[in-house]
Amino acid sequence: MQQSDYHQTVMLNECITGLNIKNNGIYIDATLGRGGHTIGIINKLGEKGRVIAFDQDICAIEYAKKNLDDKRLQIIHSSFTNMKKIVLEQNLIKKIDGVLMDLGVSSPQLDNIERGFSFNKNGPLDMRMDQTKGITAMDWLDKANEKEIADIIYKFGEEKRSRAIAKAIKKYQINKKIETTMQLADIVSSVVKSYSKKHPATRTFQAIRIFINQELTKLSLTLEQIIDLIAPKGRLCITSFHSMEDRIVKQFIKKNSQAKRLPKRLPIIENNNEKILLKNLGRYFPSEEEVKNNKRARSAVLRVAEIC
Ligand SMILES: C[S@@+](CC[C@H](N)C(=O)[O-])C[C@H]1O[C@@H](n2cnc3c(N)ncnc32)[C@H](O)[C@@H]1O
Repeated sequence: MQQSDYHQTVMLNECITGLNIKNNGIYIDATLGRGGHTIGIINKLGEKGRVIAFDQDICAIEYAKKNLDDKRLQIIHSSFTNMKKIVLEQNLIKKIDGVLMDLGVSSPQLDNIERGFSFNKNGPLDMRMDQTKGITAMDWLDKANEKEIADIIYKFGEEKRSRAIAKAIKKYQINKKIETTMQLADIVSSVVKSYSKKHPATRTFQAIRIFINQELTKLSLTLEQIIDLIAPKGRLCITSFHSMEDRIVKQFIKKNSQAKRLPKRLPIIENNNEKILLKNLGRYFPSEEEVKNNKRARSAVLRVAEIC
């Protein structure tokens, strides 16, 4: 394996335990990446078990097709927002035994300069996870106005200096297009002091990446359909890497694992009793040992729930 293909899987054992894998179960890995979790699941399956794995990144798909040869594995190049459609097409509604989502970007995406995700390496400012569609970060920055840019950097980066950054971007663009990651990182660094040990452009890059890939919208859309796909007692394991993502997952589990409160004097009619759909099985963090060996694991939070 080339270094640029390496992704160190985060909380592998915790996810496998969380999925509570059945010998002949059917599992979905919504975020295939370099297949670390997928292989972990396959290793626990018997001959009739199956994994359906999604990734919207064509490099992840090509890598898996070349390297993960197993007849129990079906690889699908698609956003996980299409999960319900695919499950329906395969007549697998309520037959899925578990869904795993290991959100965010993979190391190969971050490390490959051509992808434009990293402020530490100079590459074209692309940032699309699915390189076959959508607008690049470069084109978006070119077209968007100062307010739009400031709003995105504030909303998805929680960056207090968003307005100053947007102003500096538009000022720079009077003379020159922003085409590379280093150009953007330098512009941000000119108006932002570094946060503790983090690079000053960390929040801006995170915000633009989340926006370009519509990460939070896609997560919410997928969660809305996911409970319908999974069999009773099936599991949902979701690992997030920043607080905005984790908040969506946390609220989704909370909302579906509690009975709706009714005003006290309302008569109890059957429809008033909203069903409890999920059992919250808790949240997990990587061990100190794992964080020591894999810096990218440090912000991970895994939430596990069971379908009722
Ligand atoms: C953290 S990596 C997964 C790593 C993988 N679990 C492993 O151990 O190798 C996240 C992956 O999810 C993919 N991804 C992110 N959002 C997606 C979406 N909406 N649909 C499909 N794949 C997505 C990314 O392209 C990336 O390859």
